Amino acid sequence: TDLDAFITGLPKAELHLHIEGSLEPELMFALAERNGVSIPFASVEEVRAAYDFSNLQDFLDIYYAGANVLLTRQDFHDLASAYFARAAADGVVHAELMFDPQTHTDRGVPFSEVIEGLLCAMEAARAEHGISSSLILSFLRHLSEEAAFATLAEAEPWLDRIEAVGLDSSEVGHPPEKFARVFAAARDKGLRITAHAGEEGPPEYVHQALDLLGVHRIDHGNRALEDPALIERLVREGMTLTVCPLSNHKLCVVDDLADHPIDAMLAHGLKATVNSDDPAYFGGYVADNYRAIAMARRLDRDALATLARNSFTGSFLPDEIVAEHL
Ligand code: HPA
Ligand code: ZN
Repeated sequence: TDLDAFITGLPKAELHLHIEGSLEPELMFALAERNGVSIPFASVEEVRAAYDFSNLQDFLDIYYAGANVLLTRQDFHDLASAYFARAAADGVVHAELMFDPQTHTDRGVPFSEVIEGLLCAMEAARAEHGISSSLILSFLRHLSEEAAFATLAEAEPWLDRIEAVGLDSSEVGHPPEKFARVFAAARDKGLRITAHAGEEGPPEYVHQALDLLGVHRIDHGNRALEDPALIERLVREGMTLTVCPLSNHKLCVVDDLADHPIDAMLAHGLKATVNSDDPAYFGGYVADNYRAIAMARRLDRDALATLARNSFTGSFLPDEIVAEHL
């Protein structure tokens, strides 16, 4: 349709994408076989049928189980290559990929295998698809501060190839303040900062991400809308929110996509963006997210273009490169 062509044709940056969340069931089976790893599913259909979540933790349990098939740098390369092919087809020209090293190093997979596989695919994506990309090392917030420090230390040899650090996994009960010191250390190393906040957690966690982590953007941020003073602050600071409509629906952050607050965010003057989060688990890549939210909220082309523009101004690209994309 015209809308599909318009959305695909809009140059977009993807700012909120967990590369482990782009593991499609078909690749999960292929890697399970290649690596001799058993998975608790008999078929691709059975995997897809299990993707029926009522909250974030339901999803995380299955997402971490799926990641067990990833063992070698070739696996991480193949995972990211598949993502880049889908992203290119969707009109993504720049992607900032989150990866969860602890999900792999805790299973005995070396950090080097994870990151070298991803970096190799990123280089190929530039050549094959003209997509630029960078890496966001995300700490698992259900694990300890000490474990996050150990992960940052492991990343040391690759810090020139890591753009930012992030914070993901189970939000409630693991507030940003738990990681204030490790984020300060990351900032001292020149890394940019982002954190999931206000997905399931309260507005207070968004305040903490700003005050205690020094974030340059907020991943999700939906629940900031409950706090008018916080909305005003996010607008004043020009803070980007990396919103993920299909994820919000699948994880019951919104009951119905028709009630999604994306246009309310824009109306407040918040710098909202549209992203896929974990596309293999939530039923769509970035263009699917634009299409779904455009239909659900009757967004016009100006609004869609604003969302796409915000994805560049909210990126970690240098200002002069951002300007080239606007
Ligand atoms: N929230 C928290 N942790 C995550 C997510 C998410 O949406 N996706 C992958 N890890
Ligand atoms: Zn996320």
